[in-house]
Amino acid sequence: MNTSTNTQTNAQKPKILVARAIFPEALAQLEESFEVRSNQADQILTPEELKKELAGVVGALVTGSERIDAQALAQAKDLKIVANISVGYNNFDVPAITTAGVMATNTPDVLTDTTADFGFALLMATARRITESEHWIRAGKWDKWSIVNNPLGMDLHGSTLGIIGMGRIGQGVAKRALGFGMKVIYHNRSRLAEADENACGASYVPKDELLRTADHVVLVLPYSAQSHHTIGEKELALMKPTATLINIARGGIVDDLALAKALREKTIFAAGLDVFEGEPSVNPELLKLSNVVLAPHIASATEKTRRAMVDLAIDNLRAALGGKKPPSLINAEVFKAE
Ligand code: 8YV
Repeated sequence: MNTSTNTQTNAQKPKILVARAIFPEALAQLEESFEVRSNQADQILTPEELKKELAGVVGALVTGSERIDAQALAQAKDLKIVANISVGYNNFDVPAITTAGVMATNTPDVLTDTTADFGFALLMATARRITESEHWIRAGKWDKWSIVNNPLGMDLHGSTLGIIGMGRIGQGVAKRALGFGMKVIYHNRSRLAEADENACGASYVPKDELLRTADHVVLVLPYSAQSHHTIGEKELALMKPTATLINIARGGIVDDLALAKALREKTIFAAGLDVFEGEPSVNPELLKLSNVVLAPHIASATEKTRRAMVDLAIDNLRAALGGKKPPSLINAEVFKAE
């Protein structure tokens, strides 16, 4: 961890924490207004280190790697805001943050299209066996073109896409599917307004019906105790043997061990995973399989979008510390207009 160096002017500046590496220009801008404890080495803080770093700062930029709960906040007496550089905020214990009187923010909207694009990329790579084919070529196994003895995949056009979790990103995936001539069905905690359903050409169905009828299932729901293992052995058993499963939501939404079994026994065709239970560790059973495409949690990872996420998190932090309502405040009850 580093503290910004201009100690003379630092004396008058509020102290903030930037818990992970960010773009240098963004850090330099922050250092003009704040005394910054930064982590450009990008080492993940232990819970004990995080607790110490939060003590004495008024604001913190954090990511999904930092769990913000009562323990982390135990000594954070001056803290006014924790700004997540992420739309998902399952790393936040929101009631504990609210009890501590701290504002919590996330980064919605700016990553919607980039993440939906990636969901579609992962779907295509999985259904059309793109990474598996590449490994096959690199292993020197391609000796002839063949009608039957080449990697044969599953079509997207004309197929049924089932989306579980129909928020902004789910709707973005649905809109992309229309261009591919897919039929779109979805399941969500609450049904969309008719106008929103029409805008993305999607019909609401119960979860089991979706699993039984979809040719491709994409998961885009937030992680919580309620959504833990939304897809487990029972749900995988409902899916078609020709179906693919794509997870761009969170590790823990899928029971990875049950998924590895289904993929090994070919009770489903293939899976594309951007997120994993216990990531960055990946279940070794998944690593043994060729019918799974693996990505290191990069759905929002384009230069432009990651910059927009950092910028929005900084806007949230500056607003909160300037007495204004942050643009993406999660716990509005904490905000007191000055
Ligand atoms: C983040 C994500 O990069 O926004 C989210 O919810 O999953 C990603 O865009 C990741 O959570 C790191 O904080």
